[in-house]
Amino acid sequence: MWFYILFFSLAVSSVVAKEFVLTLGSGNFSSVVSKHKFIVVEFYAPWCEHCKTLSPEYEKAALILSCYDPPIPLAKVDSSNAVNRGIASQYEIKSYPTIKVFRDGGKVIEDYKGPPDAQSIVDYVLKQSGPGSIEITSAVHASGLIYNKKIVVVGVFHEFAGEEFENFMALADKLRLDYEFGHTLDVEHLPHGKSYDTRPLVRLFKPFDELFVDFKDFKVDAMEKFIEEASIPIVTIYDKDPNNYPYVKKFFNSANPKAMLFMNFSAKLADTFKSECREVAEQYRGDGINFLLGDAENTQGALQYFGLRSDQVPLIIIQNKDGDKFMKPNLEPDQLALWVKDFKDGKVSAFRKSEPIPKENNEAVKIVVGDNFEDMVLNLPKNVLIEFYTPWCGQCKKLAPILEEIALSLQTDTNVVIAKLDATLNDYPVAKFEVKDYPTLYFKSATGLIIQYQGDISKDDIYSFIQTNRDTLELAQVSMDEL
Ligand SMILES: *[C@@H]1O[C@H](CO)[C@@H](O)[C@H](O)[C@H]1NC(C)=O
Ligand SMILES: *[C@@H]1O[C@H](CO)[C@@H](O)[C@H](O)[C@H]1NC(C)=O
Repeated sequence: MWFYILFFSLAVSSVVAKEFVLTLGSGNFSSVVSKHKFIVVEFYAPWCEHCKTLSPEYEKAALILSCYDPPIPLAKVDSSNAVNRGIASQYEIKSYPTIKVFRDGGKVIEDYKGPPDAQSIVDYVLKQSGPGSIEITSAVHASGLIYNKKIVVVGVFHEFAGEEFENFMALADKLRLDYEFGHTLDVEHLPHGKSYDTRPLVRLFKPFDELFVDFKDFKVDAMEKFIEEASIPIVTIYDKDPNNYPYVKKFFNSANPKAMLFMNFSAKLADTFKSECREVAEQYRGDGINFLLGDAENTQGALQYFGLRSDQVPLIIIQNKDGDKFMKPNLEPDQLALWVKDFKDGKVSAFRKSEPIPKENNEAVKIVVGDNFEDMVLNLPKNVLIEFYTPWCGQCKKLAPILEEIALSLQTDTNVVIAKLDATLNDYPVAKFEVKDYPTLYFKSATGLIIQYQGDISKDDIYSFIQTNRDTLELAQVSMDEL
């Protein structure tokens, strides 16, 4: 009996002894990743419970994928291990487990966000590691691919060879996560099959506006730009339909000026607004202004983000390339065209999100809001240390008492101000104060020099940073007089 158990466990352990998941570390991570066209990496910590649950599934997926020709490797990195911290921070690993797919030797990286079971991982990897564009071989096949609510880019060729074809396939590989791609030799398979120009050409099918657009420049950059632009609707609709979310995301990611009209889609004037908005959007399309129509009932988060209230709806807000915002509340449909024209002509002044200016500001750490940022920070001829924080950030809570202490110890120093701004409720000049993380500390010297504090959250370090960088009042006075 004992012999049997011993034998059995030996047999089992010899089965699991061959690990299909590669172990990577700081010594070999880059060399292994750069060698592979496609490799999956799990970033884990030995103590993390979800990692323990994932582990056997991940191993199973690795076993299955090792049987493919060529085998698709799955790897793991213990990111909690101090020697591997560099890798973890390079790829901004914020939680465990995180699974990332590295393509083209690590040039293209994306996160796996699917369920943590072997089959889902295998399905995802097989789809992602295959060709970015699939051949369309029949009309049925085409209509399966080109269905509602998706953007599908189809290349029509004389033959599946040559520079045009290769550029198309390379781009399909690159943009595969954002669009569906197909290629064919026979236009008869495609919808609107008769109306084709000469091959080769790219036809982009979209579920809105003109429904399809053709393009004939096969340079990779030109094609990419064409696809990006053609896939933004004239008016992006932002309501509760999840099919619209990819377009909403695109809208917000675009660098173009954004015009957003928020109104109640079930209100009486909705249709009038919609057609007005479309007309105006078409008119300004050439100027590169993108338009969005949001249902105020489903976009509370967006309204709050811009510091707007539902009693201001219907409203239009435009954000330009510099991040400045312009807003008209309680809009009537027939005011839209004129207001947008006024904005274009520079006749509308910027709008800024702000908490009310505090009536009393007697605490040691002064409260700065959007509406007094100039007076309290930029134009004040004093040395100002300002913290950009959010109410929920843990490090901000840690910093608060430290700032308080510093402010108290400097209270008699009339030339130094310690201040804070709630970045969720107030706008500030983002061109001068770049804030990527919270808390962020900036120092503006009395003469107007702005520098970011990069050191530790420690009383001594921050204090000596202020003392090192401060200007005297006299110096400030001189330079202000020079202005
Ligand atoms: C990579 O290095 C680690 C040690 O950091 C080692 O355990 C592992 O076997 C190596 N993996 C490969 C695939 O060479
Ligand atoms: C939108 O309009 C409908 C119908 O007029 C109304 O019942 C609803 O309360 C409105 N919602 C908002 C957020 O104003």
